[in-house]
Amino acid sequence: MKPLNILPALKLKGAVILPGDKSIAHRAVFLSAISCGKTILYNFPFNDDCLATLDIFRELGVKISKIKPQRIIISSKGLNSLKPPKRDLFIKESGTTFRLLLGLLAAQKFTVTLKAGRALSLRPMLRVINPLKQMGADITPEYPPITIKGAQLKGIDYKLPVASAQVKSAILLAGLYTKKRTRVIELQKSRDHTERMLKLFKAGIKISGNTITLKGGSELKTPRRIDIPGDISSAAFFMVAATIIPRSEVVIKNVNLNQSRLGAVYALARMGGCIKILKANRYIPRAQEPSGDILVRASRLKGIRIGKKEIPSLIDELPIIMVAASLAKGKTVLSGIGELRVKETDRIASMTENLRKMGVSIKVTKTRSNSEEIIIYGRGELNGASLKSFGDHRSAMSMVVAAFAAKGKSRIDDVSCINKSFPDFVDNLYSLRK
Ligand code: S3P
Repeated sequence: MKPLNILPALKLKGAVILPGDKSIAHRAVFLSAISCGKTILYNFPFNDDCLATLDIFRELGVKISKIKPQRIIISSKGLNSLKPPKRDLFIKESGTTFRLLLGLLAAQKFTVTLKAGRALSLRPMLRVINPLKQMGADITPEYPPITIKGAQLKGIDYKLPVASAQVKSAILLAGLYTKKRTRVIELQKSRDHTERMLKLFKAGIKISGNTITLKGGSELKTPRRIDIPGDISSAAFFMVAATIIPRSEVVIKNVNLNQSRLGAVYALARMGGCIKILKANRYIPRAQEPSGDILVRASRLKGIRIGKKEIPSLIDELPIIMVAASLAKGKTVLSGIGELRVKETDRIASMTENLRKMGVSIKVTKTRSNSEEIIIYGRGELNGASLKSFGDHRSAMSMVVAAFAAKGKSRIDDVSCINKSFPDFVDNLYSLRK
């Protein structure tokens, strides 16, 4: 347990450089681990989830070493070079690692059992297992520990019933090992880092509207170097902090500006936040991703509606958007937010409990179509309170920001979970306090 006592901040000033994007980093490791040759990953984020991915690939026989504080080098002998591990693989709490591995390992020539930490063992895996079974995978049971008996897979056409980049990515990774093509159709676009990374590794991938077609069966080609841009989901905490703490001005450097991840930027701007993308569209060819700097100034916010269609583009930022909405004037309505129930914790429960303790009035209702909606009645201020992280990194970081902007002292029971995505978060935020 690592509790944290927080006093309100007067203002935030300065610049931050963020560690590499967690989603992109996982994918960079996965594809480097199955393409012949050496690949160097720059700006690699050494958080618990990404470290879990590195550990697993080492157990699968891939050579990985750290060459500089934020650089790793991965050496592989190609698509079919993974080795059966000597023991069961323990994925800890990394959901992306677990779900993407289900796809990759379903197509290997060995059997492996994946174990997970307590929280991840309760999160849904069937959404990934079902399409993989259609491809011919042998995976049981439905929750970790899960055993995967490698099999020869076949390509399928699959319409994603949930907007999930993890499900999409697992299918595409499995598709790399099929003789024919795999097609994934998205009803709602989710983050497209896997597609971009597959292009970078010269896979036979085509995207047309919401349909992704992948031709499997051939070796990937390493780009030799991948530059991982800063994590926009981590940036969101600084964006909101600088917006809600009066007289603040913060620049967040080298952030990933992938359209499929920018929902929180647009939502904050609609709320009246002063948020500017500087050096927009600086394209990083060595990641197939755009990046740039973001300038944020303190502003008065107003309540807005965030609809179901926008949710995939800000799914991980909803907790911190809820903090912004609590400090805005007027009502904010968040629709189609059911996926929040199955994140690291039930984020509807964690965030409503904490924000109510800070004096916010929040309603969670069911709509006629039986989906959930959160209504936050912003009142322009938060009271310091005794808060809980619920072992969830994004709930914890959201509450650190809320406590910075609150009136009076706050205490968060345990912030060690922040290591999952951003070990230096608290230090970085404190370095901006003036
Ligand atoms: C992620 C996809 C999202 C997101 C998660 C990371 C990824 O999950 O919430 O933090 O890297 O693919 P879903 O695929 O469940 O939407």
